[in-house]
Amino acid sequence: MPVDSRLEVVPFVEVGDFGPGFTAERARQCCADLERGGILFFSGIPYELPQADVNFLLSYAARDSRFHKNVSYRPASDVLRGFAGDAESRRRTHDVMRRYSRQVTGFVARLLAPYAAHWSLDYASYRPLEEAARSLSVHKRNDLLHVDAFPTRPTRGGRILRVFTNLHPANPRVWEAGLPFPALAGQYAAAAELARFAAENSAPWRRVARALGLPLRERSRYDSFMLHFHDWMKENPELQRTLPRRHLEFPPSSTWLVFTDGLPHAVMSGQFALEQTFIVPVRAMVEPELAPITVLERLSGAKLA
Ligand SMILES: [Fe+2]
Repeated sequence: MPVDSRLEVVPFVEVGDFGPGFTAERARQCCADLERGGILFFSGIPYELPQADVNFLLSYAARDSRFHKNVSYRPASDVLRGFAGDAESRRRTHDVMRRYSRQVTGFVARLLAPYAAHWSLDYASYRPLEEAARSLSVHKRNDLLHVDAFPTRPTRGGRILRVFTNLHPANPRVWEAGLPFPALAGQYAAAAELARFAAENSAPWRRVARALGLPLRERSRYDSFMLHFHDWMKENPELQRTLPRRHLEFPPSSTWLVFTDGLPHAVMSGQFALEQTFIVPVRAMVEPELAPITVLERLSGAKLA
């Protein structure tokens, strides 16, 4: 498949002025930039985040997070997970994460207004560990290029939008990222056995459960392929060595947004990041033909969700 001329290795877009003059036309352009595999970048924190909350998160991490990967916050149910500490610190962390999630969501609703009526708000997380120092199994490693897929939360084609803020007082968060999904899939989806996943039938027990009207959190063919593709990319040394990518350094207090299901990325180093995830349905896309599910359906000639 020829590389779409609209797609660079990683379009990197500094948003700059996000004042009262931010128009609907610019919001739409920001959506289009993201959907092409771009990263929207702010050199500061473009939503309200009290310094006291930042200080608390930094000090808490130094004390209590040795045994936990992330602290996660579920906005829909107002539940905090992954926290190890005393009751008072827990209450405070819960408050900080709730406030962060609300503020960042309000900001993204304005920046990416075309999505706001359609998305479902997923989890927020605080990532206190130094990424360069972790020893993890191949499939869990963050320093290998991959696209995101959720094992327990199938999106059925919905896109994974993530907003990150680097809270480290001195060090950048360092990524490598590229190539946008249409080019990536054109080069690798067949080798990753897309055809096998496209031909898969629903398990018989699922058909029975559906016929009985039982509630199912069903994983679509799209979700199955994306989970497999995530692992397959990390296992593939040739891809890791040769995939075109950019080296990116996100400075302290900077904020960036990216569709992590569509742009291969690896986290090389960095510590103390806040993140909020949104699931955005393809019908809300400005350029739906660039969405991974559309690309994979075109390549396979099959419906995947
Ligand atoms: Fe990732």
